[in-house]
Amino acid sequence: MALSVVILAAGKSTRFKSQTPKVLHPFGERPLIAASLMLAEQLSEAPPVLVVGEETDAPLRRWASDRARFVYQERRLGTGHAVLQARSLLAETADRVLVLYGDMPLLRLNTLQRLVDLQRAESAAISLLTVIRDISQGFGRVLRDADGRVVGVVEEPEATREQLAIRELNAGIYVFDADFLWNGLPQLRPSPEKGEIYLTDMVELAAQSGHSIADLVVDDSTEVLGINTRVDYAEAISVLRTRINEQWMLAGVTLIDPATTYIGPQVTIGPDTILLPNTHLRGKTAVGEGCEIGPNTLIDQSIIGDRCRVIASTLEHAEMEADSDIGPFSHLRPGAYVCSGAHIGNFAELKNSTLGRDSHMGHFSYLGDTTAGEHVNIGAGTITCNYDGQQKHPTIIEDHTFIGSDSLLIAPVHVGKGAKTGAGSVVTRDVPPYTLVYGVPARPKRQLKDDAPIEDQSESEV
Ligand code: UD1
Ligand code: CA
Repeated sequence: MALSVVILAAGKSTRFKSQTPKVLHPFGERPLIAASLMLAEQLSEAPPVLVVGEETDAPLRRWASDRARFVYQERRLGTGHAVLQARSLLAETADRVLVLYGDMPLLRLNTLQRLVDLQRAESAAISLLTVIRDISQGFGRVLRDADGRVVGVVEEPEATREQLAIRELNAGIYVFDADFLWNGLPQLRPSPEKGEIYLTDMVELAAQSGHSIADLVVDDSTEVLGINTRVDYAEAISVLRTRINEQWMLAGVTLIDPATTYIGPQVTIGPDTILLPNTHLRGKTAVGEGCEIGPNTLIDQSIIGDRCRVIASTLEHAEMEADSDIGPFSHLRPGAYVCSGAHIGNFAELKNSTLGRDSHMGHFSYLGDTTAGEHVNIGAGTITCNYDGQQKHPTIIEDHTFIGSDSLLIAPVHVGKGAKTGAGSVVTRDVPPYTLVYGVPARPKRQLKDDAPIEDQSESEV
């Protein structure tokens, strides 16, 4: 039996008060509606049908034209009318139709699978998902008869006082027998109060015409949170964050303060890593084992090896090998690569640059378009002047060099192995290996011994 999925997204998002349709606001680093699309793709091989309206038509087509079919609902006459728009597309091909509302991104695949299986097992005209919760505002109430059978759903504007007190709510997710759906929808009449054609009236129609109705009560009420306002949106974001955080805690990651820890859905984290408060991990960031990250840290699309320490710093599109550390208050920009054992202290910035194994860059410095080798010491205030106003130029700093405090390296420039620059040098020409240069502009002053590595010659920075 072929199952097709219809996702309703034609609404005007009036309550969301935004220029951008609510289903395109980000949720877990994707547009909110992506959650429904992904569920649909997991449940059915047929591409889902998106019901779009004036505001959502163009942006949703732009975003999902290759993975969905579209139908346009010209006049927004209600959820029943919206589903009816998909009839011509699906009448011949689908035996069963799962209807999802595009504003419910927290549904779990397992719940939907159970609802689909239930409809099939009971050959029901409708199987609907319900939820029992105290906060009922905005939901349709589920009506049952004396025997406990579902006989209808009443929307808030039409509900009586007694009905409003009902705590079993319509989640807004249904699996329909296709024949029943396409025959029934045209029979629905506009609701007395709002004048909308309610999809929920299909439940009463089924009950009155002697069709069977199956129901499934969802255990976790967060699954059916629908995003109508920005208050709902914030709540949904927080539920998603809690789910992700709990998953990582159960996988062996310590979160000192989950309420201020933000982990994106594509992030991976090794066990025994500790995340301190106000840590944000985004994109395809991968953090190794035994790291300590935070507090006050933002890491986007970066790779962090095992046993690294990142304190109060920002990393974007960067990589740190195992046993390296950075911070507080430093910035790795795209293309920054910090090798194993390297140390970056405070107020440092690396862009498109490598800091080699066991090299140190302790204090306010900038490396741009630079390759620095192993056991290099970048003194305080070192700047690679990589931009001449028109073009970017590379700097190469060989192994075992010592760049004295406040050195300016005017790129393109090459500092040879074991060389040393004196404090305040402006290095405009290549520095030969094992040579001390200083001055403005820097000139060779002394030959350094080949066999004595620079870090042994000078404990403190020049
Ligand atoms: C709906 C249900 C309610 C349920 C609640 C759960 C109806 C009549 N009511 O109410 O029983 O408890 O969801 O969250 O179904 N849409 C269209 N075209 C339209 C109208 C709506 O595509 O003409 C889309 C909206 O974009 C939205 C979805 O349908 O994605 C639901 O519409 P919404 O107005 O949010 O329904 P609720 O009032 O939340
Ligand atoms: Ca809604």
